[in-house]
Amino acid sequence: MKLFRKVLIGLMVLISLQVAGQSSDPAKMKSFIDVLMKKMTLEEKLGQLNLPAGAGDIVTGAAASSDIGKKIQDGKVGGLFNIKSVAKIKAVQKVAVEESRLKIPLIFGMDVIHGYQTTFPIPLGMSCIWDMSLVEKAASIAAQEASADGICWTFSPMVDISRDPRWGRISEGNGEDAYLGSRIAAAMVKGYQGNDLSKNNTIMACVKHYAMYGAAEAGRDYNTTDMSRIRMYNEYLPPYKAAVDAGAGSIMASFNEVDGVPASANKFLMTDVLRTQWGFKGFVVTDYTGINEMMDHGLGDLQKVSSLALNAGVDMDMVGEGFLSTLQKSLTEKKVTMQQIDAACRLVLEAKYKLGLFADPYKYCNEERAKTEIFTPANRKVARSIAAESFVLLKNKNNLLPIKKTGTIALIGPLADAKENMSGTWSVATDISTPISVLQGLKNALGSNAKVLYAKGSNLDADSLLEEHATMFGKTLHRDVRSNEVILKEALEVAAQSDVIVATLGESAEMSGEAASRSDISIPKIQQELLEALLKTGKPVVLVLFTGRPLTLKWENEHVPAILNVWFSGTEAGDAIADVLFGDVNPSGKLSTTFPQNVGQIPLYYNHKNTGRPLPEGKWFQKFRSNYLDVSNDPLYPFGYGLSYTNFSYSDISLSSNTIKGTQSINATVTVTNTGSVSGKEVVQLYTRQLVGTTTHPVKELKGFQKIELKAGESKTVSFNIAASDLKFYNSDLKYVAEPGNFKLFIGGNSRDVKQADFKLSL
Ligand code: BGC
Repeated sequence: MKLFRKVLIGLMVLISLQVAGQSSDPAKMKSFIDVLMKKMTLEEKLGQLNLPAGAGDIVTGAAASSDIGKKIQDGKVGGLFNIKSVAKIKAVQKVAVEESRLKIPLIFGMDVIHGYQTTFPIPLGMSCIWDMSLVEKAASIAAQEASADGICWTFSPMVDISRDPRWGRISEGNGEDAYLGSRIAAAMVKGYQGNDLSKNNTIMACVKHYAMYGAAEAGRDYNTTDMSRIRMYNEYLPPYKAAVDAGAGSIMASFNEVDGVPASANKFLMTDVLRTQWGFKGFVVTDYTGINEMMDHGLGDLQKVSSLALNAGVDMDMVGEGFLSTLQKSLTEKKVTMQQIDAACRLVLEAKYKLGLFADPYKYCNEERAKTEIFTPANRKVARSIAAESFVLLKNKNNLLPIKKTGTIALIGPLADAKENMSGTWSVATDISTPISVLQGLKNALGSNAKVLYAKGSNLDADSLLEEHATMFGKTLHRDVRSNEVILKEALEVAAQSDVIVATLGESAEMSGEAASRSDISIPKIQQELLEALLKTGKPVVLVLFTGRPLTLKWENEHVPAILNVWFSGTEAGDAIADVLFGDVNPSGKLSTTFPQNVGQIPLYYNHKNTGRPLPEGKWFQKFRSNYLDVSNDPLYPFGYGLSYTNFSYSDISLSSNTIKGTQSINATVTVTNTGSVSGKEVVQLYTRQLVGTTTHPVKELKGFQKIELKAGESKTVSFNIAASDLKFYNSDLKYVAEPGNFKLFIGGNSRDVKQADFKLSL
């Protein structure tokens, strides 16, 4: 009888799940979840808030007998992450929907950060593309491939603004600017989620790391953030808000504290801003053991910190199981309420409902799709062109680049034959043995037209321990155990036989990313010595620079004739690099982060304030001015900067009116001309400056951009529309306002070299 009842309940639940779980109607969703939650025990509710680790090594068939399997059977797991393959995910899902009492499906997440199997440039590289349709396209390909392999939730986009290149995770974000960062955040959410989250080829986004993780003191990972509210609202929060406005289904709390309270217990962030001010309707997940780490932050024991997190507005606990193991006790002791647990549980269930998992728990587990939709020639083709578009040409003296496909090319450097490093940091979903190395790419492009001679030239770093730390997760650089002298000698012999030297130097993939902060952000010394030796040969040297962050390149900029920054651009890196080196593609990337001259200038960013004692333009040092004795205030390469194989000239700005009145807008127009001999793309950038206000304002603020393509000799008129709403900011009362007064407007190809005009806002 008991068994019969159990089967009957199970059947009824399953039928109701099948019927109701298919509708995207909010009222139907609500009543479906109401019915389900009435059946749930407190333990089962807490189970939905639990996102444990440890399922990564589950093998098909063993799922049920694993530790995690037991918890799933007991209804103590809401989802899992970073499990790869349809077979494994299906096996685990089967345990949830066939062996747990209420048969609630699991949600499967993954760090699909810049692609799945087909990888795209690291986010910092992607952010140099300034073409939102491509950003969206890359995210939609990532969603297509991930969803074909069982994943329905990605821990992306990462939208932390950072002005500190010492911080390793600057590589995972979109640079220093809130406007550009917001545009990218929205495009990525759209790319992942599409217009319909219940489709089987879209996945739920999780915007992270909320909030201000990129402002960690001294660029040291996980470090303290302490910031004025006005700066937060104007300069750091906008990209998270843009992702929320674009409909991101979930958000991840950051590891760091903000103004004395770790994000996971920060009610101001999690409830006041996120829910009350922004109207966020999705669920909040912590970062990896984020709740437990609050014990080390000094907020109390596990029970205490878990209750703080729930009270602050966190819904799901990643890895630490503090919610699962302590909230029941906290409920009895009235430290948390049943309403809070119910609200969190409901949000997690809603996410599953929206993804269509109740209607079909195996919706993303289609083996046929896994075979045909991942790493396809079509996806790789898009990735190759996006990779090339992310490269930033930093210097090109006497048009050394592009090089010809003739003669002998010496390819030298530790990153030349390093396919395992091409995808860069946070590429957990991809098989790192698949990318195309630079050596392979050059060979593919040259065929029998020219010769490539390869030599390593040096290891990544003379210090083998540092190299070990910088080549984790299988991202080996195949350390050469011969002496530095022998390795260098071989390279110089190769160089001697060549017409041109391509030096592939810089960082390894894991020299940036999580817990990969650096206090010295130059190219490792042994590689600098190699570069110096190569330059001494008198042959033309092109530096192909690999990096996950802005580096200090003062010496290189002075001595090396051509520098092409290629970041880590994904599975197609080698072919894309060849495309640009040989001029089949004209580079068009523009920096989303300032490159400083030296570490002492950090934080250095284009949209700084003027101060009361600004240094007059063009000056290096003046006593009693805001400057340094030993270095100018200028960056090495400014925000928005990047060269092309052609040149662009800008006309003066013409304004449709000198005054914006009330709700009217004005147009600012320039004519851009390609004055060179090849076609190319240019990112036309619009900046403004509010000259007088109730608070101080940055000397320039990005307000718009357009990427255009011009044939040799061609001109195009580019027009920007500016309204009072574009000039709004958060004032001292944190009110979002525009203030009347005088403004400057700038248009140019980077934040430094601009045309200017004046206008007025009269409200
Ligand atoms: C990172 C997150 C990531 C999570 C899950 C953490 O260490 O900070 O960005 O999404 O792990 O893998």
